[in-house]
Amino acid sequence: MSSNRIVRDFRLAIYSHTRGGESLTHLYTSVVKSLYGNIIMKILGINGSPKKEKSQTRRLVMGVLEGARQSGAEVTFVDICGLDIKYCTGCGTCYATGECISDDDFAAILEKMLDADGIVWGSPNYINSVTAQVKTMFDRMADSIHCQSFAGKYGCSVSTAGGSMADEVADYMNSTMTNLGATSVGKVAILVGADPNAIVSGEKQAKELGRKLFEAIKTKWVDPVQEKQHVERREYFKRLVMYNKDLWKHEYDYWKRLAELQ
Ligand SMILES: Cc1cc2nc3c(=O)[nH]c(=O)nc-3n(C[C@H](O)[C@H](O)[C@H](O)COP(=O)(O)O)c2cc1C
Repeated sequence: MSSNRIVRDFRLAIYSHTRGGESLTHLYTSVVKSLYGNIIMKILGINGSPKKEKSQTRRLVMGVLEGARQSGAEVTFVDICGLDIKYCTGCGTCYATGECISDDDFAAILEKMLDADGIVWGSPNYINSVTAQVKTMFDRMADSIHCQSFAGKYGCSVSTAGGSMADEVADYMNSTMTNLGATSVGKVAILVGADPNAIVSGEKQAKELGRKLFEAIKTKWVDPVQEKQHVERREYFKRLVMYNKDLWKHEYDYWKRLAELQ
């Protein structure tokens, strides 16, 4: 990839996901497309605050996307609180078939994450954890964790809190990211309750994180610590799936196919 070959296309990207005939286009905010020769680096930002445009966390997610966009990535923003994502029922159908029994927006958002080179997750601290909407999305990803579906991707997380534990919330999201097989490049965690200007310095940090995410993807950055964990985790999930191979047919076939490809 060479930065002097960037061609920016400021057209709005339109996504055509539908839910029961209703267009979901409005949930997918402005996208800027950048080309490096024929390679497009795609970065997806997801905010899990229900406060939509008023969300402080959204400002951090947007900051990361802006830093990545300025570096040359194609960026997309999604508010998951506008999506219909049902609770996981723990039925195990996804392990067996690769598909969920719930017909909702989860498949579309998972597809967008799988299509991205880089992923940004944002959540405010809600009672020392992520919001229910973010957790609901994570719970639907157990099959993706078993298959290490984010292997080769990069990600980061941002969080805001009134007074405490924004750091821990961002760390939790990053641990989910790495659990899926992706490499985390860092976090921004801001306490906004007593300092209205904190978010402004947070946005600067977020832009920097966006540039870091872009560079990590571009250079295929390897963090030796996370790399060792990736290797161990892949071995663990291969063994787990093998042990459950009669029940988890889809996951067994998936790992078998990968082994055949290597
Ligand atoms: C239901 C709820 C729970 C919250 N729990 C905490 C908390 O445990 N600790 C804290 O410091 N702030 C807490 N907050 C404050 C938010 O984390 C804070 O206002 C955050 O910046 C909101 O982000 P947003 O504007 O992106 O929604 C809570 C807010 C709400 C609405």
